[in-house]
Amino acid sequence: MGLTNFVYIIIFVFLMAGAPLSYSWGVDGHYMICRIAQRFLNSPASSAVLDLLPSSANGDLASVCSWADNVRAAYPWSSPLHYVDTPDNLCTYNYTRDCHDSSGNAGNCVVGALNNYSAQLLQYQSSIRTYNLTQALMFFAHFMGDIHQPLHVGFTTDEGGNSITEYWYNTKTNLHSVWDTEIIRTAMSNYYGNDRDTMADSIRTNITRDQIQLWDSYSSYYDLATESIQDACSYAYKDASQNARLNDTYFLSRKSIVETRIAQAGFRLGFLLSQIFL
Ligand SMILES: *[C@@H]1O[C@H](CO)[C@@H](O)[C@H](O)[C@H]1NC(C)=O
Ligand SMILES: *[C@@H]1O[C@H](CO)[C@@H](O)[C@H](O)[C@H]1NC(C)=O
Ligand SMILES: *[C@@H]1O[C@H](CO)[C@@H](O)[C@H](O)[C@H]1NC(C)=O
Ligand SMILES: *[C@@H]1O[C@H](CO)[C@@H](O)[C@H](O)[C@H]1NC(C)=O
Ligand SMILES: *[C@@H]1O[C@H](CO)[C@@H](O)[C@H](O)[C@H]1NC(C)=O
Ligand SMILES: [Zn+2]
Repeated sequence: MGLTNFVYIIIFVFLMAGAPLSYSWGVDGHYMICRIAQRFLNSPASSAVLDLLPSSANGDLASVCSWADNVRAAYPWSSPLHYVDTPDNLCTYNYTRDCHDSSGNAGNCVVGALNNYSAQLLQYQSSIRTYNLTQALMFFAHFMGDIHQPLHVGFTTDEGGNSITEYWYNTKTNLHSVWDTEIIRTAMSNYYGNDRDTMADSIRTNITRDQIQLWDSYSSYYDLATESIQDACSYAYKDASQNARLNDTYFLSRKSIVETRIAQAGFRLGFLLSQIFL
């Protein structure tokens, strides 16, 4: 390779690193999901989580909930595990058809990753541990969040809304970031004194017994991906065409969808960990 090509590649890599392509609920969304989940842990799961968390977490699962995003550069193989792309406009998810990376490797999507890391965590009980279970826990907690973000199970051509430019009030962004970050940020600022603990606790204490029964009745991660693509079609893509200006009309009608997805992710993560470590 000539020196010039090398320089171009370096520049390209730099530009890509700065591209606004996002891969998961923003830091606040993941933080809230894990904060809610930790309150739903039974006592064996609570002990196992404390045992597996890195000491830097000080026993707080929420503090490492974005770790998986922070290691994307170090572990490039993990990038496709944050989402799954589905066929444009079909509004359905199908494991065989959809769960693969862009090179076609089967299982490399968020659903495959959840199967993978929950299976690894089951080794906690056994004397033979072949995986790093600290990493398995941090990946699992993060991907349970991602699969609940409607646009992490979005359409293929627009990369889950990443390539749909929008104006969030007056700020230029893209549809994926609206769902990762902007709706949460606006809600936090308008209703929760800009404090994510307050928002997370409001979401958690709002969960009803009936909802818990309903939310617990899914049979696999497949169903969670189906919920997300349905929400993506009904709420995320709807009224959000290329270059649209999204305002209170969009925000006020989507806020409770986002709060519900955060509640479901938190509750389900807590319950799953409680079953895994039982
Ligand atoms: C999922 O996709 C596969 C492969 O395209 C197909 O054979 C199968 O029938 C589909 N399953 C459902 C439930 O649609
Ligand atoms: C499963 O986990 C291992 C260890 O982190 C990783 O190498 C592999 O890529 C993962 N595969 C999926 C589909 O999550
Ligand atoms: C497991 O992963 C954590 C987080 O990356 C790391 O700090 C730790 O050293 C790893 N443990 C082993 C035994 O490799
Ligand atoms: C907000 O957006 C809606 C379209 O979703 C539009 O009908 C309405 O006029 C906009 N309101 C303001 C104040 O711009
Ligand atoms: C409380 O629950 C209602 C009904 O499900 C929902 O519309 C609202 O967004 C929730 N609020 C919070 C803070 O979670
Ligand atoms: Zn992610």
